[in-house]
Amino acid sequence: MSEIRTGLGWDTHRLAPQRPLVLGGITVPSELGLEGHSDADVLSHAITDAILGAAALGDIGMHFPDSDPRWKGADSLVFLRHARDLAAGRGYRLVNIDATVILERPKLKDYRQPIRESIAAALGLELDRISVKFKTAEKLGPVGEQRAADAQAIVTVIRS
Ligand code: C5P
Ligand code: MG
Repeated sequence: MSEIRTGLGWDTHRLAPQRPLVLGGITVPSELGLEGHSDADVLSHAITDAILGAAALGDIGMHFPDSDPRWKGADSLVFLRHARDLAAGRGYRLVNIDATVILERPKLKDYRQPIRESIAAALGLELDRISVKFKTAEKLGPVGEQRAADAQAIVTVIRS
């Protein structure tokens, strides 16, 4: 009998000058970028947690502690692929990913395609299995005040 599961992921990172804004492995031109131990790719981190969640494999910090010098400046697509491999080890393959990045500016919609393609390539999935959406926070709260960016993701996996 096949088994279908879902996993939920969320992440937030501070915005700061002189940092790159990396989303799904794509560097988006921006005055402010994301702070963090790794490349701070908030979108990849949310998706990584969603994959781990679907397979009940803990969370990103359990597998990639931010105290570990190995992960300083790390390409977060490595985390994403590792989560995919761990889930595959339990027999789960990814069906689809739906994610939202909440960031006041810059406008991200022109980067939707490259970001989707980057995630699809990293995970070896067809493009139509990857959805990435963008929202502002309507100038409210830390995201709205351009002090942070959030990302949310939901992932469906199947074991046949
Ligand atoms: O947050 P809001 O509802 O105003 O966003 C409207 C649209 O603007 C979104 O559906 C998305 O297409 C786009 N957007 C964007 N980049 C952002 C935030 C929103 O392209 N940083
Ligand atoms: Mg993170």
